[in-house]
Amino acid sequence: MPDRRDSYYWKAKENNYSSRAAFKLIDILNKFYLSIEERSILEIGSNPGGWAEVISMNNPSFHIAVDIKKEPSELPYIFIRGDISRDTTWDSIVSTLNENRIRTFDLILSDAMTNTSGNSDVDHSSSYLICKKIMEKGIPLLNRGGSVIVKQFQGDLTQSFIEDWSDYFRRATITKPASSRQASREIYIVFKSLV
Ligand SMILES: C[S@@+](CC[C@H](N)C(=O)[O-])C[C@H]1O[C@@H](n2cnc3c(N)ncnc32)[C@H](O)[C@@H]1O
Repeated sequence: MPDRRDSYYWKAKENNYSSRAAFKLIDILNKFYLSIEERSILEIGSNPGGWAEVISMNNPSFHIAVDIKKEPSELPYIFIRGDISRDTTWDSIVSTLNENRIRTFDLILSDAMTNTSGNSDVDHSSSYLICKKIMEKGIPLLNRGGSVIVKQFQGDLTQSFIEDWSDYFRRATITKPASSRQASREIYIVFKSLV
């Protein structure tokens, strides 16, 4: 079995992050001048918690994290266990917003991805469907000027996905952080500033 512990793995250990994924979020936020401070954040696919730690350290005004997998109960943010493809999970997100008297999110972030199958078409299509659901359900909950970052396994539908949603935003860009493994087809699509 190949050793997947590269320099980012060790850097995550040194910085006490739960996963090397933390560096992907830091890279993207810096590159696109996106701030967490005093912003309301919806984070999707949060387990094991690297992105959540980066978000918490940067003082968001409000932070909901969602994942199919369970997370510990003592967390500095609201955790919803659910499948983001299901309307019931979005109902829980909306109820949580209402209970906390928050109207909208400033930033919706998704690192969600089901276990890769090894078949690139299957992985692309499952990540495409997650991204599509996030755009359909997330945009109505986004503040004017707000942004969305979604992970996708690149494939045939990536370009049309960007075209379908880019009109809602000032800018749509594909990015691949240095900390993302070069061999992986994972990319992040940054939709900046809802118009
Ligand atoms: C790459 S991991 C996320 C790593 C995380 N961002 C971090 O920094 O530690 C992908 C996560 O997406 C979650 N996930 C996959 N499909 C999902 C779905 N449909 N709804 C919610 N979470 C999902 C998985 O359970 C997994 O924990």
